[in-house]
Amino acid sequence: MERKRTSPLAQVKTFTFVTILLVSSSLSLEAASKIPSQGIAPATVSDYLVGIIKADRQVYTTHIVKRMQDQGIVLAQEDWKDKNAIPLPAQFLHYSSKIVAESGVGIRFRLISLWPIYRKNGPATPFERKGLEQLIKNPNVPQRGKVATGKMKFFQSIYADNATSQACVTCHNTHPLSPKRDFKVGDVMGAIVITIPLEK
Ligand code: HEC
Repeated sequence: MERKRTSPLAQVKTFTFVTILLVSSSLSLEAASKIPSQGIAPATVSDYLVGIIKADRQVYTTHIVKRMQDQGIVLAQEDWKDKNAIPLPAQFLHYSSKIVAESGVGIRFRLISLWPIYRKNGPATPFERKGLEQLIKNPNVPQRGKVATGKMKFFQSIYADNATSQACVTCHNTHPLSPKRDFKVGDVMGAIVITIPLEK
């Protein structure tokens, strides 16, 4: 039986293919080794987190709250626990942040404002107050800085929370405990603060 001979052209092709394979795999190894051993910058981690937090709140607001209300099924109301109702988006964010805090991963997030409905949602530190003031002038520039609690060091990022719809404005302007009654659509109503530990 005659064995099939591999033509010189086919040999060159195989050689080229194997070479490309080896070079590309060593390139990807090199790329992986370039990932800094210190990890991702805390500002970037915060940007990733705020992306998820905002997306979750938006999904809840548009695909659950608005849909349920439009179809007359159930309303989102602040005193939802005592009624046949579901939580407001701000409460949704608050409850999920509580679960994250209790999980022990060390990150925290919350909604704050210079005109909070509840005082607990006011700025907790001069840094947070300054951050809120800056965001009113410059909503697109998140405010960031290192903060310390005892021996623990944290990184805080503060992102503007704008009145994206008339519903935000109407509810806050008419809430009996709201200290501000002239919010307009587009205004910076407050901020999302994200706090991440800088060491384990
Ligand atoms: C139906 C009423 C209602 C609507 C609509 C609403 N909120 Fe609120 N919002 C509240 C209540 C009540 C709280 C306080 C929740 C708590 O801490 O228990 C709150 C809290 C907040 C806070 C934290 C500061 C504070 O006032 O206590 C911000 C910031 C905020 N809302 C922004 C918004 C934005 C932006 C929208 C629209 C995308 C919006 N809210 C829509 C009722 C509402």
